[in-house]
Amino acid sequence: MEFRDLKRQYQYLKKDIDLKIQEVIGQTNFIQGKQVADLEKQLADYTGTKHCVTCANGTDALQLALMVWNIGEGDAVFIPDFTFFSSGEVVPAVNAVPVFVDVEPDTYNIDCNSLETMIQRVIQEGKLLPKVIVSVDLFGQPADYGRISKIAEKYHMYILEDAAQGFGGRIGERRACSFGDIATTSFFPAKPFGCYGDGGAVFTDNGEWAELLRSYRVHGRGSSKYDNVRIGMNSRLDTLQAAILQAKFPVFSEKELEWEQLAAARYTERLKEVVETPYIKDGFYSGWAQYTIRLSCRTARDGLQTYLKEQGIPSAVYYQKPMHRQQAFSGNKYEDNDYPVSDKLSDTVLSLPFHPYMKEEEIALVSDAVKKYLKG
Ligand SMILES: Cc1ncc(COP(=O)(O)O)c(C=O)c1O
Repeated sequence: MEFRDLKRQYQYLKKDIDLKIQEVIGQTNFIQGKQVADLEKQLADYTGTKHCVTCANGTDALQLALMVWNIGEGDAVFIPDFTFFSSGEVVPAVNAVPVFVDVEPDTYNIDCNSLETMIQRVIQEGKLLPKVIVSVDLFGQPADYGRISKIAEKYHMYILEDAAQGFGGRIGERRACSFGDIATTSFFPAKPFGCYGDGGAVFTDNGEWAELLRSYRVHGRGSSKYDNVRIGMNSRLDTLQAAILQAKFPVFSEKELEWEQLAAARYTERLKEVVETPYIKDGFYSGWAQYTIRLSCRTARDGLQTYLKEQGIPSAVYYQKPMHRQQAFSGNKYEDNDYPVSDKLSDTVLSLPFHPYMKEEEIALVSDAVKKYLKG
């Protein structure tokens, strides 16, 4: 069994994907071909944003956003403590300071009470200016933008929606990537909407920022690639990857998301009596980057993971280490009780095999193995 079965997806989409790849090779327009611009238009329409600017990966996408806002020395950027390293890594990369925030015990997304406490702590210390809230749509579920927006407004901060895992998720009818002042996503192969290598995108309604993004992603270009008006990056989405995403898009938006809802509901139905299953807020829809259960303690979680491995069932721990415990951030000060939820989650979560092409009998097999271990 595969954790996320990309081979099965390829078999389903083979004809369209092969055709699209051949088209690019035939045209030899490997860099910034028409497919890239077409995809950007398609994804802007889908997310309900005015501009989509693709780039080389989801990490660059976050950094590009910070560059557009001129975030740097003396600025504080607030990030959930329970996320992938990238969400925080980009902050020191632009010379700003990351401030980690504990997460909600049910959704695992940024906790707005802790967020406000941390913002006030930074203001009281008086050394840094609170500038940006990075709200990660963890495991596919959008963060609580109703509350986050109020805090951002109160403290005059930007919202950077890290929807690397959230593409396809929504709150009501409003789709992920439309909640932040700028939003980003990743097309890493295992992501909800993944390509066949690295890829990413930035979304915004602000035309000036979109222009800046287009400049920063190609060496700070001005009127041409050889007229350089600012220090930028080399961060373009390959035409081949754009073409693959175009081939995948209709099935992703019309079928895969629904199949995932069904797969998640099946897991939950089978597991809800024995473990903590994913909690999705009322009116929220997850893009299901992961199906993550929560055990009672680290011993139970590690034991279950070993047992599943023995049965040939892959699983993963996202995330083993909260951000504040990463060596790379060891310069950051924190108090022992700043991150009780995040600390607990890293000991107790386990992500199960999950993808849109999962069969009912596979879900039953994994669920039965989980139950058998917990009974024993
Ligand atoms: C929450 C989050 N942010 C950012 C990224 C970075 O994306 P990429 O791997 O495309 O750089 C990831 C990817 O794993 C992620 O999960």
